[in-house]
Amino acid sequence: MPKPQANPEDEDPTPYLFVSLEQKRIDQTKPYDAKKSCWVPDEKEGFVLGEIRGTKGDLVTVLVPGGEEKSFKKELVNQVNPPKYEKVEDMADLTYLNDAAVLHNLKQRYYAKLIYTYSGLFCVAINPYKRFPVYTNRCAKLYRGKRRNEVPPHIFAISDGAYVNMLTNHENQSMLITGESGAGKTENTKKVIAYFATVGASTKKPSEEQQKKGTLEDQVVQTNPVLEAFGNAKTVRNDNSSRFGKFIRIHFGPTGKLAGADIETYLLEKARVISQQSLERSYHIFYQIMSGAVSGLKGMCCLSEDIKDYYYVSQGKLTIPNVDDGEELTLTDVTQCLLSNNINEYNFVAQGKTTIPNVDDGEECRLTDVSG
Ligand SMILES: Nc1ncnc2c1ncn2[C@@H]1O[C@H](COP(=O)(O)OP(=O)(O)OP(=O)(O)O)[C@@H](O)[C@H]1O
Ligand SMILES: [Mg+2]
Repeated sequence: MPKPQANPEDEDPTPYLFVSLEQKRIDQTKPYDAKKSCWVPDEKEGFVLGEIRGTKGDLVTVLVPGGEEKSFKKELVNQVNPPKYEKVEDMADLTYLNDAAVLHNLKQRYYAKLIYTYSGLFCVAINPYKRFPVYTNRCAKLYRGKRRNEVPPHIFAISDGAYVNMLTNHENQSMLITGESGAGKTENTKKVIAYFATVGASTKKPSEEQQKKGTLEDQVVQTNPVLEAFGNAKTVRNDNSSRFGKFIRIHFGPTGKLAGADIETYLLEKARVISQQSLERSYHIFYQIMSGAVSGLKGMCCLSEDIKDYYYVSQGKLTIPNVDDGEELTLTDVTQCLLSNNINEYNFVAQGKTTIPNVDDGEECRLTDVSG
């Protein structure tokens, strides 16, 4: 993922962060009757707004949209919040905190292009499946050094809070990013890393060697394409699904400058290497190599021109809509992790010993039936 560039012409993020005054005015004039308005369950919508018509014992008669009157058990009828809470930034502020109220608030904010909402200490993110200009440098600046209640909900506000707490309390901080497949965990994690890389960037001029290798901030941000190439794959639910868990630790120096990062990975889905469902794919790296975008790589791996020659990786889809495997291969740092002749340059395998006494790796390779 490229580092956000300082660009004075970054698009204005405010329509994607704040409710407009006009919208606020419309929201305040919503019809509301504290005694009659209610949420009732609906098969299609989850919950719909109804109007209480009467109560008989345990049953409440409610006028539902469409003009029909229906009876519901008392415990299924939920109270509605006054209009001043419409599209509220923190759902902990709601007078009535029930499933219907939470879903309504998240949905209305989402329709208004507001993808982040707080629920107490949590920040709920909804996947927009669209690039909103809320991760630009201009937007990051809006959050730097601000308190949570001074700025609208955002993953940057959470990140900045953690950064400031680390500096003031001298304590490690952690963020848990969780959700179902396709929810946006990986995308948000990348934004958090990029934010830390920006706020913790060194102000020193990079040395010549650094310029060649990229600054530390660049290196930290650039670990992602490599990780994703080897550990992400197309699934039915997500074209870039992470098939492993990860714990990312970012280190800072005493003044808050970035000092390094390490990543621990867990539970890679191994079955995908040899079998895929018809709408899925194995790990991106195979298809990236097969794209031929880096000359010499296919030859080095003794690969043919036709991916169908390789049954283990060609049982499902072979391409992903709107993804150019060749372009992705150039983002995956192939020179560092695939093309080197020196094993010590392969960080993944060279973290410990690279030879075993009395074992000839060449001989072992011939014994392992690689061609078969
Ligand atoms: N904030 C966002 N802005 C724009 N697009 C997004 C955002 N979040 C998610 N997406 C889109 O949704 C896709 C799926 O998101 P992501 O890969 O982050 O899901 P995930 O939670 O990591 O899923 P999995 O558990 O399968 O790894 C992304 O490839 C991207 O296209
Ligand atoms: Mg993911």
